[in-house]
Amino acid sequence: MRVAIIGQGYVGLTIAMGAAGAEHSVIGFDVNEALVGRLNGGQSHIEGVSNLDLSGFISEGRYKSTSQAAELDGCDVVVIAVPTPLDEKRNPDLSYVHNAADLIAKHVKRPALIVNESTSYPGTLRKEIAARISGVDHWYASSPERVDPGNTQWGTKNTPRLIGGLTPAAVAKAREFYSSFCDSIIEVSSPEVAEAAKIFENTFRQVNIALVNEFAQIAHALGISGREVIEAAATKPYGFMPFNPGPGVGGHCIPVDPSYLAYVANIIGVPATFIQRANEVNLAMPAYVVKRVIAGNGGSIKGKKVIVVGVSYKSNVADTRETPAADVIDLLREQGAAVVWHDELVGQWRGESSSPLADADIAIVVSKHEGVSIGAIKGCGYVFDCTGSIDGVDGI
Ligand SMILES: NC(=O)c1ccc[n+]([C@@H]2O[C@H](COP(=O)([O-])OP(=O)(O)OC[C@H]3O[C@@H](n4cnc5c(N)ncnc54)[C@H](O)[C@@H]3O)[C@@H](O)[C@H]2O)c1
Repeated sequence: MRVAIIGQGYVGLTIAMGAAGAEHSVIGFDVNEALVGRLNGGQSHIEGVSNLDLSGFISEGRYKSTSQAAELDGCDVVVIAVPTPLDEKRNPDLSYVHNAADLIAKHVKRPALIVNESTSYPGTLRKEIAARISGVDHWYASSPERVDPGNTQWGTKNTPRLIGGLTPAAVAKAREFYSSFCDSIIEVSSPEVAEAAKIFENTFRQVNIALVNEFAQIAHALGISGREVIEAAATKPYGFMPFNPGPGVGGHCIPVDPSYLAYVANIIGVPATFIQRANEVNLAMPAYVVKRVIAGNGGSIKGKKVIVVGVSYKSNVADTRETPAADVIDLLREQGAAVVWHDELVGQWRGESSSPLADADIAIVVSKHEGVSIGAIKGCGYVFDCTGSIDGVDGI
């Protein structure tokens, strides 16, 4: 099949590689021309896609990236994988999805399967995409992406794929496409069910992470280790699922997607109180970290040299979107600390560069990447670990 993927970010490029690996001819469309140039030069920008795989598919003629929208026409499948962030008021910003739909309306003149993989609230495929496209009888399906960047166990191939279509023919076409590179396809009765399932999965994580973050604070105040309690509770073979506390939630999904559900719930008059409370708890975690660091340093960190280790939102990825490290650093600086950060995966961030892991009074570990030396972290003197991966130091 000839396949176009709109958006060549974490999701779009991953899907492009999956489809190219299944012998489809893939066009990776992106409005970012610099990114298109790098991709066509065989340079991947995400951890899960190697330059070797990308270059291989390019040389075999199975992948090319473009910013030319005219190339979308004549494709059998067009997948939308564009950002779905929040606006300043923390409401859904569907402008990227609308732009992608408008591109399809303008350029895709032959009937195609149109699939939305971008995460959004139930009703997006029907009301925000299909309703904007007229004049051509496309097939429409929703297949929300569940990829977990950096996860080596679960990827595009072996993570079950949900499909909900506007018509049975759309579902059949989506099944044919995705079963060429995904092991397990799960059909649901409507696109709204598929969209809601994805958003509920991430809300489940957001709420449980908030719960464990609150519990970690209670355990600390009780003088016991929250992590030891969680480990003990997890020995129960049923009815308990462990989550780990941390400095807050980051990335494009967990801090964002639940607010899409809260938004639509609010419109239909059902208050999403768990989501609101979970947001409050998770967003307050950087302040809790800084409060504990101050307490662990005699009540003041003014003038202290602090190094924040790992500024991406989780270990072994370079993604800094919504990372709690940003608030941790800003709050430390408000307290008069001299703050630098160390993260060689990230390298450059907010106009600053990664500093060598040495020569600090205090180290705060926000994410722990493989290869980062625990010895070097401990060499900094006082250590506060948000990851639970360093023994014998202060932390959550
Ligand atoms: N990153 C993840 O782990 C993950 C996991 C599951 C689902 N999702 C969802 O997938 C969607 C995409 O996320 P992502 O992480 O790939 O985003 P991303 O920011 O990594 O990539 C999005 C890409 O889309 C491009 N783009 C924006 N508007 C465009 C347009 N009109 N036409 C063509 N390209 C356009 C951008 O230039 C960018 O390269 C979001 O809805 C996200 O919530 C992400």
